[in-house]
Amino acid sequence: MILRRVEELRALVRGWKREGAVVGLVPTMGALHEGHLSLVQAAKAGADRVIVTIFVNPRQFNNAADLAKYPRTEEADAALLAPLGVDAVFVPEPDEVYPPGYASEVTVGGVALPLEGALRPGHFAGVATVVTKLFGMTLADRAWFGEKDWQQLQVIRRMVTDLNLPVDVQGVPTLRDPDGLAMSSRNARLSAAARAKAPALHLWMTRMAAGATVAQAEAGLLAAGFERVEYLEFHDAETLGPPIPGHPQRLLAAAWLEGVRLIDNIAA
Ligand code: PAJ
Repeated sequence: MILRRVEELRALVRGWKREGAVVGLVPTMGALHEGHLSLVQAAKAGADRVIVTIFVNPRQFNNAADLAKYPRTEEADAALLAPLGVDAVFVPEPDEVYPPGYASEVTVGGVALPLEGALRPGHFAGVATVVTKLFGMTLADRAWFGEKDWQQLQVIRRMVTDLNLPVDVQGVPTLRDPDGLAMSSRNARLSAAARAKAPALHLWMTRMAAGATVAQAEAGLLAAGFERVEYLEFHDAETLGPPIPGHPQRLLAAAWLEGVRLIDNIAA
């Protein structure tokens, strides 16, 4: 069932809640692939009712061209979700989410500052704001997010803790193509030649986690055809600060291939 108005969605969810249902949420920006569907499957297993939201959130794009070329594939998305037994698909227009007069923002410090936060000013405020709003709109008890966007997942966990949001946040491991490339809506923008080069990112990350130096990995990526490495760094897995001996670490990367910005991360 596709819903476009917050009021309709809230009426539906209130009915579920009266029956005692645990309500699950999978927020997406559409252009769905198997990675998104793995979140939906996890939600189906972990909630009585599942809402998938599809909203290309303008506030998290720090670049108007990137927003304009973000793929919008609602019909194909609905067809992918249909067999999964999703209870509601919420697809609001921008005005429904940010009506005239809208003036509020959620900003997160600390974990949201390095890496993507530094390179994409305003991005995490846009994400934190829309996710807070989606929690409020859907009245979700539990929500699923992918480890593909590791920093985003940690930002949302921090925000939920800091703001006492009554939502249980669940992380889902990154789904990869057989050659190691993390599934992403952006992969569709790669030419066949670039797609063949793209697995070098995950390959060099695994080599770095096994002891290769950052200089070797960067040289390897450039030799494989990447234009530029934006970051390839070990961070504390939870705070995204510098690694702390004895704490879980994460290796995170962003790199450009044929004008497409790919991000990935692995345990390290
Ligand atoms: P989007 O990029 O559409 O991703 C929606 C969810 O799918 C995110 O939680 C993301 O981490 C997860 N995901 C994407 N690729 C994945 C993969 N290969 N394996 C596992 N999970 C994957 O992330 C966003 O949208 C937005 O920022 C959003 C949270 C919806 C707020 O607008």
